[in-house]
Amino acid sequence: MNLMELKNINKVYCQGKSEVVALKDINLVVEKGKFTTIFGPAGSGKTSLLNIISCLDKPSSGKFLFDGKELSSFGKQDLDLFREDNIGYISSDFDLIPYMTVYENIEYAARLVEKNNIKSKNKVMQILQYVELYDLKNKRPNELSSAQKKRAVIAVVMVKEPVLVLLDEPTINLDSKTADQIMEIIVKINEDLGTTIIFSTRDLQMIDYAYKIVGIKNGKIADDEKESWIYYYGLPTWFFFLVNNKY
Ligand SMILES: Nc1ncnc2c1ncn2[C@@H]1O[C@H](COP(=O)(O)OP(=O)(O)OP(=O)(O)O)[C@@H](O)[C@H]1O
Ligand SMILES: [Mg+2]
Repeated sequence: MNLMELKNINKVYCQGKSEVVALKDINLVVEKGKFTTIFGPAGSGKTSLLNIISCLDKPSSGKFLFDGKELSSFGKQDLDLFREDNIGYISSDFDLIPYMTVYENIEYAARLVEKNNIKSKNKVMQILQYVELYDLKNKRPNELSSAQKKRAVIAVVMVKEPVLVLLDEPTINLDSKTADQIMEIIVKINEDLGTTIIFSTRDLQMIDYAYKIVGIKNGKIADDEKESWIYYYGLPTWFFFLVNNKY
């Protein structure tokens, strides 16, 4: 079953008199409960695409359907409400509130959606266990490592129980062991809670976690998975057979 569909999406940024075409005729279907990666080099359009899917930005043209709703026709206020109810976005500059502890940061987010105090506290405790930060719940962000911070950010977003979670390059600047730990938590969330996940990366090592790989370059997405690989990285064909065996 499809959660969302992008049809002929274009994004053009205007900078004074000049224009930057960031996304060109994007067609993309994301299935409910699945784990998709947007994979491409720097400047390829990953963030532009995630900004549109997260409803933070509107496309210049094209249609965006989410759970049967035509979001391209929504006004800003309705789009903001829709995002609050359905989408968690861990953008690359998403940060914790510096003067609050890990617990308080997560509780603050939980209170935005859960008015009942006991239920909200239970949710915070549960998510703290999930991201393995229970023992660090009283620490402030500046006392955490970058990987611990990233896990806390995931908890802040997940505690609101969004249908879709987007992560823009969640493992950038992390060493490969820590990056794997972060990806494993995201996989666990996807498997246990059925949350649909889309994450972007330029790291070849990370795409192995995804169910579906969508290559992007110069604002265009590849027609299929095979093209994503051959086109962008010139990998040997046997690599595909390995990847395709998963499906
Ligand atoms: N707000 C903006 N105004 C003008 N141009 C922009 C804006 N945001 C992005 N661009 C341009 O659009 C293109 C795609 O950028 P985008 O940030 O989406 O790529 P990206 O794949 O996320 O890159 P990176 O890996 O460096 O984060 C680039 O040419 C970029 O310079
Ligand atoms: Mg980016």
